[in-house]
Amino acid sequence: MKVLSLASLLLCSSAAMAHFTLDYPQSRGFDDDKEGTAPCGGFDTVANRTQFPLTNGFLQINSRHVSAEITINVVIGSNPVAADFTTAAGTPANSTSLKHPGNACFPLDLSTFQGAANNTNATIQIVYNGGDSPLYQCSDVVLVTSAPSFDQTKCVNNDGSTSTSNSTTNGTSAGTAISVKSTATAAAALLIAVAMAF
Ligand SMILES: *[C@@H]1O[C@H](CO)[C@@H](O)[C@H](O)[C@H]1NC(C)=O
Ligand SMILES: *[C@@H]1O[C@H](CO)[C@@H](O)[C@H](O)[C@H]1NC(C)=O
Ligand SMILES: *[C@@H]1O[C@H](CO)[C@@H](O)[C@H](O)[C@H]1NC(C)=O
Ligand SMILES: *[C@@H]1O[C@H](CO)[C@@H](O)[C@H](O)[C@H]1NC(C)=O
Ligand SMILES: *[C@@H]1O[C@H](CO)[C@@H](O)[C@H](O)[C@H]1NC(C)=O
Ligand SMILES: *[C@@H]1O[C@H](CO)[C@@H](O)[C@H](O)[C@H]1NC(C)=O
Repeated sequence: MKVLSLASLLLCSSAAMAHFTLDYPQSRGFDDDKEGTAPCGGFDTVANRTQFPLTNGFLQINSRHVSAEITINVVIGSNPVAADFTTAAGTPANSTSLKHPGNACFPLDLSTFQGAANNTNATIQIVYNGGDSPLYQCSDVVLVTSAPSFDQTKCVNNDGSTSTSNSTTNGTSAGTAISVKSTATAAAALLIAVAMAF
């Protein structure tokens, strides 16, 4: 019994290290160990571009923390370097507080964003702070007035709604790993479990 709970805690604590994933549009790449590396979670070269609409765009993530501060920065250009992301962070494209784990959709309207225009290359950076240190993901896009290939159905929140909200989960779609708030919490729980086992 004790061994079983210890094992499940170990599982939880390793799952909690996957802090968040950028699920849509396509991320440059995801590496759990490098997600804390600015500006793009360890992926410094431009990847496939997704057509991103100037109006009615969004980012879809899956959060493993129950709450997080989210900042979305956009660098206009084809081959941004680290300094460009630092500059872009001076005028974020949007920011919000996330108050539930699991699926979250962030509307992103770039129609009035400085430098955004039809057929303009850009890189969207999402900075996610779940209370420990910031985590980063990037998506390379081409901004367009009409983006038929942009899949609007990918915008889904944890409660199944398609607009952003901070409602709490029904407990159905959230999964199991996200019950652990942070690796620190998991480590504390693990210590208690170990103490109990002896
Ligand atoms: C990038 O695009 C190319 C050409 O469309 C495709 O073959 C490749 O699989 C894509 N790469 C990724 C990681 O999706
Ligand atoms: C910023 O996000 C909020 C809520 O997530 C959304 O209502 C708003 O339209 C967004 N603004 C822009 C400019 O994307
Ligand atoms: C945007 O660019 C596309 C491709 O070049 C073009 O077909 C379309 O007419 C442009 N849209 C506007 C509103 O200029
Ligand atoms: C946009 O990026 C693509 C490669 O990702 C490149 O082929 C294209 O020339 C760029 N467009 C502009 C206007 O620089
Ligand atoms: C939970 O489930 C109910 C019934 O399926 C649904 O109506 C509701 O929108 C869901 N979300 C929340 C936050 O209750
Ligand atoms: C989130 O909840 C707060 C109060 O709990 C509310 O003021 C705010 O409007 C909500 N935001 C969204 C996007 O629902």
